[in-house]
Amino acid sequence: MAKFAVIGGNASKDLAKRIARRLKSPYMETQTKVFPDGESKITFRRIPKKSIILVVQSTYPPVDTNLLQALTIISQARKVSSKIYAIIPYMGYARQDKQFLSGEAVTMSIVAKMLQAAGAKKVIVVDIHSKTALNHFKIPTESVSAIPELAKYFKKLKLKNPLVVSPDMGGSLRAKKFASLLNTDFVTLKKSRNRKTGKVWIQSSKVDVHERDLIVVDDIISTGGSVIRATQFLKRQKCKRVFVACTHGLFIGDAERKIKKAGVSQIISTNTIPRSTSKVDVSGVIAESIQ
Ligand code: R5P
Repeated sequence: MAKFAVIGGNASKDLAKRIARRLKSPYMETQTKVFPDGESKITFRRIPKKSIILVVQSTYPPVDTNLLQALTIISQARKVSSKIYAIIPYMGYARQDKQFLSGEAVTMSIVAKMLQAAGAKKVIVVDIHSKTALNHFKIPTESVSAIPELAKYFKKLKLKNPLVVSPDMGGSLRAKKFASLLNTDFVTLKKSRNRKTGKVWIQSSKVDVHERDLIVVDDIISTGGSVIRATQFLKRQKCKRVFVACTHGLFIGDAERKIKKAGVSQIISTNTIPRSTSKVDVSGVIAESIQ
């Protein structure tokens, strides 16, 4: 008998079904209606009485709606099981994990409190922006990595002597891991962001990328500003093609078009956020972390 039951929220139905298949566990879909005023109503057919219930819901935009839906499902599931694992493959608000400017609220700490209050006993995320975000939880947490899966995808492209690039210092270890999986080297750019306007620029002066295919790796692509500035900088250094890999492709507005316009040959993301670029499936790494 399966130990788990998987419930898929509106934002992550396909991924939830895949996780259920991998765990050979029953999947239960929720019906979600969003009213004209923005309120959500979630209807459950039946919540299977399993010892552990996995609630899968990413909190990409509309972030607050998807978050509240996750909280509703968790608290409803809590009525039939005391062990609810919240699988939030993309954790919105993770970048608001500390106070950067005086007076700022640390919203990630509120999100952590709400998930715990709703009844989550464990939280599993994919490639959290920084460990600090998970430190706000008092329950066990785990961030599983999509980097091996992304690297597998790029291995199949058989690029000749590719170079992995991190657009900023914060992503350096990620790029190092990606590069080691591809048996190649990596470089880290120096990026600056104006915390008030959000504008980004590359501070690095020169890197040796001449005639090499590049893979720019990031955790999140939101407006696309970081990878666009990195690509423009790298193109000026006379590289060959630029590929972009990220775990969470938010692609706000027409970010995807702007990234392509900057000269990127291909953008690859995972299905933590379902997009046309989501060619890499993270259900395997999530299921492995649970078994
Ligand atoms: C920042 O440190 C993150 O790792 C990403 O580089 C950033 O969130 C991407 O945002 P955008 O696409 O808006 O530049």
